[in-house]
Amino acid sequence: MVHFAAESHVDRSITGAAAFVTTNVLGTQTLLDAAHRLGIGRFVHVSTDEVYGSISEGSWTEDWPLAPNSPYAAAKAGSDLIALAYHRTHGMDVVVTRCSNNYGHHHFPEKMIPLFVTNLLDGRKVPLYGDGSNIRDWLHVSDHCRGIALALQGGRAGEVYHIGGGTELTNKELVGRLLEACGAGWDMVEYVEDRKGHDLRYSLDIGKSRAELGYEPLISFEQGLADTVAWYRDNRSWWEPLKAKAALS
Ligand SMILES: NC(=O)c1ccc[n+]([C@@H]2O[C@H](COP(=O)([O-])OP(=O)(O)OC[C@H]3O[C@@H](n4cnc5c(N)ncnc54)[C@H](O)[C@@H]3O)[C@@H](O)[C@H]2O)c1
Repeated sequence: MVHFAAESHVDRSITGAAAFVTTNVLGTQTLLDAAHRLGIGRFVHVSTDEVYGSISEGSWTEDWPLAPNSPYAAAKAGSDLIALAYHRTHGMDVVVTRCSNNYGHHHFPEKMIPLFVTNLLDGRKVPLYGDGSNIRDWLHVSDHCRGIALALQGGRAGEVYHIGGGTELTNKELVGRLLEACGAGWDMVEYVEDRKGHDLRYSLDIGKSRAELGYEPLISFEQGLADTVAWYRDNRSWWEPLKAKAALS
């Protein structure tokens, strides 16, 4: 069983945390109980780098203490720890993966890259938090899925594996790349009040996954971003109704 399901948007966890605790913590425990009862083999729990909090220099290794800051990250940390507890308590075959920021096709348009790309394709402005100095590591969704498959097949029970993308960018640098890819200028950027408790930087050390799983990100950010913008340009029928329903801009 590979468990991806979660309430996943940090901004929504700031305005209403209840669904995040219910889905991410109770939901994960419900699935773990079901897997245990049914004698399912391996259970891979998809976690996040956000469980570590923020790091100004260097990169986190898998044994770093968890210090989440947002309600989303705290609920994911709860689910991550309960998954590992089921391994230690019940001997279940659990593997946890912690990844960096995903991007790619079919990404729900509430998240930064699809929101900004779809706004720009519509000739609408994009909202940039604070001064744009926050740093994230970008991981193409295909690399993430390949990393999860490697952990499913070759990970050791009770272990945590990092899946990173190898491209660290400030949000301002990212916006520059998005503007370029969509043929727009900086006049399309609107600076908005920073996200509450906005973590400055996330950075994963992927040495363990490289050594044990043979994991390496393969898609360059340049190629991945060009493909992503092309996908959103060609697939309006997928994202337009979603964006309208969620009233996103
Ligand atoms: N996208 C990222 O950058 C990123 C980074 C790190 C970790 N993750 C983790 O990867 C996983 C997938 O993220 P995503 O970006 O695809 O998120 P997403 O919000 O796009 O998808 C989550 C899925 O979970 C489902 N879901 C939510 N609540 C549910 C419930 N109560 N019962 C059943 N299904 C429910 C949703 O319908 C949705 O299909 C999540 O666990 C997330 O925490 C994502």
